[in-house]
Amino acid sequence: MTQTMIGIVGGSGLYDIPGLAGAEWQEVETPWGAPSDAILVGELGGVRLAFLPRHGRGHVHSPTTVPYRANIDAMKRLGVTDLVSVSACGSFREEMAPGDFVIVDQFIDRTFARDKTFFGDGCVAHVSLAHPTCPRLGTACREAASAQGVHVHDGGTYLAMEGPQFSSAAESKLYRAWGADVIGMTNMPEAKLAREAELCYASVAMITDYDSWHPDHGSVDITAIIETLGANAEAARGLVAALPGKLDAERATCPHGCDRALDHAIMTARDR
Ligand code: ADE
Repeated sequence: MTQTMIGIVGGSGLYDIPGLAGAEWQEVETPWGAPSDAILVGELGGVRLAFLPRHGRGHVHSPTTVPYRANIDAMKRLGVTDLVSVSACGSFREEMAPGDFVIVDQFIDRTFARDKTFFGDGCVAHVSLAHPTCPRLGTACREAASAQGVHVHDGGTYLAMEGPQFSSAAESKLYRAWGADVIGMTNMPEAKLAREAELCYASVAMITDYDSWHPDHGSVDITAIIETLGANAEAARGLVAALPGKLDAERATCPHGCDRALDHAIMTARDR
């Protein structure tokens, strides 16, 4: 058995976790440089928890410049076993409305200007991403979010775009036709790196807008997003507070194999 440690990577609007016992901001060094910020470590509901504001306090990292490898590595070094991404997103579906949360279970990665792997320099690995999120952790997040009275969608495909500009209407309609449900700028390469780090990963995408495909909603602008973000962030704080109650303080190996992702993934000969 391993001690559960929850990691939260908080997106826009979520910059701290109230009620964290013994909370302390810790600086963590990694071979990939510094994470987005110091990491707030403490205990919530009897479970250890580490919180990292993805964009840094004061929102200083753009989606492209977030140090994704350092962030995941730092969480791993602190002992995180269960990593939850909380982020804002746009919706491609009428029924997925602003204020709703989506427990993402698939990704389409359209980012192109980010370091996406820990491997490749002397050691080559190809992990499976067929099922990029952990269903066990996703269920815990869904239950914790539902308990806040949020309308939660169980499953959805997240299209990760490079940004920082929002999509054109033509792109928005294209991504919709591809079957994407929501769009954001930060879950990739985060999900890929979490898998390489053998962390259970779940993504809670909080809808702020209808992107730019919807005939009755104008183009996306940041002022409208920030208005919805406030309410979403309040529900996200409730979700985080409820999460320890949904996970055991000690955990066995992940039934979905997230914590053994490298067992059959490394190609480089061991005796090199
Ligand atoms: N984050 C919030 N809304 C978004 C959108 N429409 N596109 C990309 N990222 C977003």
